[in-house]
Amino acid sequence: MKILAVETSCDDTGISILKTGNNGSFSAQGRPVSGWKILSNIVASQIKVHQKYGGVYPMMAKREHQRNLLPTFIKALKESKLMTSQIPNPKSQTNSKFQILNSILEREPELGGKIIPFLKKYRKPDIDLIAVTNGPGLEPCLWVGINFAKALSCLWDVPIISVNHIESHILVNYLKNKSIELPAIALVVSGGHTQLILMKKIGDYKILGETRDDAAGECFDKCAKILGLGYPGGPAIAKLASQHPTPNTKHPKLPRPMIATKDYDFSFSGLKTAVLYKDQKTKTKNQRYKREMAYDIQQAIIDVLIKKTMKAVKNFDARSLILGGGVSANQELRKQFKNKIEKESPDTEFLVPKPDLSTDNALMVAIAGYFKARQNKFPKWQDIEADANLRVE
Ligand code: KG4
Ligand code: ZN
Repeated sequence: MKILAVETSCDDTGISILKTGNNGSFSAQGRPVSGWKILSNIVASQIKVHQKYGGVYPMMAKREHQRNLLPTFIKALKESKLMTSQIPNPKSQTNSKFQILNSILEREPELGGKIIPFLKKYRKPDIDLIAVTNGPGLEPCLWVGINFAKALSCLWDVPIISVNHIESHILVNYLKNKSIELPAIALVVSGGHTQLILMKKIGDYKILGETRDDAAGECFDKCAKILGLGYPGGPAIAKLASQHPTPNTKHPKLPRPMIATKDYDFSFSGLKTAVLYKDQKTKTKNQRYKREMAYDIQQAIIDVLIKKTMKAVKNFDARSLILGGGVSANQELRKQFKNKIEKESPDTEFLVPKPDLSTDNALMVAIAGYFKARQNKFPKWQDIEADANLRVE
């Protein structure tokens, strides 16, 4: 089975093609029987566009997705060696489906103007399933990917599946670890979300806690903006923090919000405000000050995430701890989580994707789509809609 996956929930345009072995059949525990082969996994980042404005503006991101989708798709087809030959006389195509495609892509004129002539020109590639993110995320952005995927599904008569972005961030860990011991605790930390999730099995989740205000990645991004470090803030803060020569671990200056509360919720907006006040009071903002602040911001976020997550790992007797989402690309976070698990819960397996699979990509969508296909969760393409606030359940 070859799965074409589409990801446009935020500011990365992702297309991936995953081959899932002969028949992709699964054992009872959801263990893939035959191997997976990544034929392509292309991400067109919009960072350069959003850097100018210090953050992501949904309508600007939507426009970029419309621009990037076709070139990214062609690149993925070529890399997968699935690019097809041209139809001899494309103009004479009387396929009535193109009328439907026009209406599907009505709200994405820039994308429609490019993709429809392309689809008229080239034959259907060898794709068996289309997976697309339908939420959570920025609604205008989600729609671009959904309408693109719907158009392909309709024209080629290929089944389509919609997947949850948060679930994709979790299930991408199956790439490296074909069998994950359950129950697992999953911490998904991204620019839009901070959720602590109990995973009883694939497709069966309970959100234990989440942020009450800003997400961890959002906090990195906002603090970086205050310090004048640019966008995205996470990698910028991580880089500066690693250059701090003498971290004072005993006397942190910044607060660790909600670290001692009994629940599994988080709050990061107070940390950002504390950074803002400190910055306003500081007269000499030299490199040393910035390094110290970056170190303490990163450590404050790590301290809170580890404390709450370890509490969940112990209380739910988790056999695995899974990290996912852009913030889980943070090397210091990964290192400190690994050490903590080894020390305090050595029987729990610690799983985290490669950094480029922690951040948004379409390979994770293909994997989540595969698991949903195994559960026969196929909607009609007409029924797929964007849901900016979609939750795992
Ligand atoms: O999952 P993701 O790529 O997109 C969303 O779904 O939001 O996460 C993006 C977030 C941004 O806030 C970015 O600053 C953060 O992940 N991030 C990091 C690192 N790399 C990306 N945060 C901390 N350290 C990093 N190395
Ligand atoms: Zn994400």
